[in-house]
Amino acid sequence: MRILAVESSCDELALALAEDDRILVNLVASQIRDHQAYGGVVPELAARLHLENITPLLTKLIKSSPFSLDTLDYVAYTANPGLVGSLIVGKVLAETIALYYHIPTLPLNHLRGHIFGATINNHFAYPMLALIVSGGHTQIEYLESVHETQIIGQTLDDAIGECYDKVGNMLGFSYPGGAKIDRLAQKGKAERYHLPSPKNDATFDFSYSGLKTASRQLISRELKNNNFELNDFCASFQAAATKNLAIKLERAIKKYPVKTLLVAGGASANSQIRKMVRALGTKYKIQHTLVPDLEYCTDNAAMIAKYAYEHLKTHKNN
Ligand code: KG4
Ligand code: ZN
Repeated sequence: MRILAVESSCDELALALAEDDRILVNLVASQIRDHQAYGGVVPELAARLHLENITPLLTKLIKSSPFSLDTLDYVAYTANPGLVGSLIVGKVLAETIALYYHIPTLPLNHLRGHIFGATINNHFAYPMLALIVSGGHTQIEYLESVHETQIIGQTLDDAIGECYDKVGNMLGFSYPGGAKIDRLAQKGKAERYHLPSPKNDATFDFSYSGLKTASRQLISRELKNNNFELNDFCASFQAAATKNLAIKLERAIKKYPVKTLLVAGGASANSQIRKMVRALGTKYKIQHTLVPDLEYCTDNAAMIAKYAYEHLKTHKNN
């Protein structure tokens, strides 16, 4: 089965080609630099830049493809969630290619794409528990199959990546600041500052807006007192941001015994989160603990291709 996948939900236009579950081509046109001046993604600009990026990216895809595109079986694309303008560009691109080659399209969910991105080049088995940590979402999903999925907890306000980026912005880091905070956190002392660990309750839900506000207050107070130590702040922030992820994921593992535990989404590149998920997998002797390769953490189309394959494998009529 030959699949072309399109991902365009935010500020990356990405294309991938897969033969069954093997990713053959994985291309991304990132716009991060274009949005940095604004401190975050500008939706209208993202959609316009996607349009500009289509021709060069598609040309590159055709040149690097090991097979002719007229042997494609499906065009899969991210249908939701995401920025409406960005999603529409991806949908129109996918539908145009599909119309040209007389093949069907397959609209897919971005977050489940992230989940299956973690299974690329990895063995896995159901049931699975997936922790999704990205710029737009923080949630735990339980999957009994590719078609039977349940969100058991999610953020009630900001997403974890969004919180990292907004705090990065307060520190004067360019967008997205998540990876830089993570880098500096590894050189600091987490005990130095006290920040609240958000939504420490009996649910599987999360909240990050309080941590964002507490960070803003702490930064301005410590700066005023000439007492601000950047690396220690980043370490303290990282400890607070990840503590409840660990508590709630562990509770979920106890309630939903699984064969696969995985983490996915842009913030799954975070060193502390990767360490925490691996440690839980070992502690609970979970058969497969998946932490995605860095190229499959942030938005990409390979994850959409892999999700499409898993979906189509069990839904032959789609
Ligand atoms: O999945 P993604 O590419 O886009 C969304 O679907 O949202 O995630 C991007 C997010 C950004 O918020 C970015 O700061 C965060 O992932 N991120 C990190 C790290 N690397 C990327 N957050 C914390 N630590 C990191 N190492
Ligand atoms: Zn994403």
